[in-house]
Amino acid sequence: PRDLYLARENSAGLDLNDAPTVESLRHAVQDDRGTPHVACPLIDGQLRPGEPRAHRAPGNREDVVGGTVFADEEDIARALDAAARGFPSWSATPAARRALALERAAGLLQERMPGFIALIVREGGRTLPAALAEVREAIDFCRYYAQQARQHFGSPLPLPGPTGENNSLQLEGRGVFVCISPWNFPLAIFTGQVAAALAAGNTVIAKPAEQTPLTAMAAVRLLHEAGIPAGALHLLPGAGEVGAALVADPRCAGVAFTGSTTVARDIARRLAAGNGPLVPLIAETGGQNALIADSTALPEQIVRDALASAFDSAGQRCSALRLLCLQADIADRVITMLAGAMAELVIGSPEDPATDVGPVIDEEARAALERHVRGLQAHARPVHVCALDPARTSAGTYFPPQAWEIDSVVRLQGEVFGPVLHVLRWQPDELDALCDAIAATGYGLTLGIHSRIGHTVAHIRNRLKVGNTYVNRNIIGAVVGSQPFGGERLSGTGPKAGGPHYLLRFATERTLSIDT
Ligand code: NAD
Ligand code: ALA
Repeated sequence: PRDLYLARENSAGLDLNDAPTVESLRHAVQDDRGTPHVACPLIDGQLRPGEPRAHRAPGNREDVVGGTVFADEEDIARALDAAARGFPSWSATPAARRALALERAAGLLQERMPGFIALIVREGGRTLPAALAEVREAIDFCRYYAQQARQHFGSPLPLPGPTGENNSLQLEGRGVFVCISPWNFPLAIFTGQVAAALAAGNTVIAKPAEQTPLTAMAAVRLLHEAGIPAGALHLLPGAGEVGAALVADPRCAGVAFTGSTTVARDIARRLAAGNGPLVPLIAETGGQNALIADSTALPEQIVRDALASAFDSAGQRCSALRLLCLQADIADRVITMLAGAMAELVIGSPEDPATDVGPVIDEEARAALERHVRGLQAHARPVHVCALDPARTSAGTYFPPQAWEIDSVVRLQGEVFGPVLHVLRWQPDELDALCDAIAATGYGLTLGIHSRIGHTVAHIRNRLKVGNTYVNRNIIGAVVGSQPFGGERLSGTGPKAGGPHYLLRFATERTLSIDT
């Protein structure tokens, strides 16, 4: 229907080719160093102070970004009580007023963009362009879900019935939604989940990733300032146990989770094990994403798009490219060009505008990547391993972007979350087998196809079912409202963030039939 595509104001960006703009962002990062960031349990608008753990920047371990007080059992119980108490009033708040608060939040985010960029750069290790895109995405989520709430949650939908009977369907919030988010989009995914749950009329307990609670705290403060009542939105920083305890409680009426497939399974098990109400799980998880290029594709374009897809955000995107599949007769040329392009990548501080690839999030992530590469060395051929310049990288958790040629998709076990690209050659008569092998990894998140032949594109797309397919372009950076994002099978339960049906997953539907 047309009303799904109503015009909406998009977030305004910044010109990162403009030297004064970039300089002002660098100043914002410097200024942020003077801000004493602390994340602590925030329940009913009350901070629960405690002894904070220091939080260090991935790009520079000497840089203490702030401190976090982890939630304890008492905080968890208090937050569940408070969110349950807050539900009747927030769910009865007209959808248009809920939407207005989210639109105000979008306006405040737009105004305070440099400060949020600075915090994301420091806490999340994201580069300036990635942090800018992330703030814009958070703004777009707020506006998009506000618009959806107005459209679908405002008044009941009249339905046909026999003469003398009025039927209608109303969308309403479900209760207390637990929103659990990852560190790789510390603002956009955190805000997107929370905004969707609130727009639909739920109260929210937000549990951000333990690596990035400071950005989450700043976002919650801003949402409260924008008019989301203190009783409707509560924050519990902490590790996985906090999320596990929240989802196991019978007061939890819904879970929005973005993170690894393993943790999604754990949450599903906990939800199934309880004796409380049957609770929906919205899970958006990992990927094993491929780009298939045939010999009609342009090598320069393949290289440009593979480079961005595999190494932007140091490969720490669920959408990132892990497997580049090249038709054999163009493979040598593309591989040579890819190695040349990789040699030009600048790896260094996320604060530096010259940087292409920043750090990975922490030592644990770096160690997992090192283990994976040790495994590759036994059977794969290096295409290119970037050199790290100690002057740029010794202070943080950096990992050299690299590409390896492998001989079979079965070499890829599980998600490799970082800047490691695998390259595979295929012969024309192997295309179907290749698609089947990629499908057999079990994931279904993003897929790239580079081909000038419409039939080939349709054939691959038909054989390989994923959430987001990109043709003759890169495979990252889905745009709210234009490219609803989310995967299937091991990649998630299906709802598309930033899409027209997302809010329905946060709602309950109630039918009313009146005999007049
Ligand atoms: P993770 O699964 O380790 O953690 C995600 C969140 O779950 C964190 O807040 C963590 O504290 C919490 N958690 C951990 N154990 C828990 C448990 N037992 N019960 C409840 N909560 C628990 O993931 P991560 O390392 O933070 O993020 C990276 C992962 O996220 C990758 O797999 C990536 O593909 C995925 N991701 C998916 C999407 C998507 O939209 N599909 C987007 C971004 C990231
Ligand atoms: N939505 C993010 C992307 O498309 C994960 O890259």
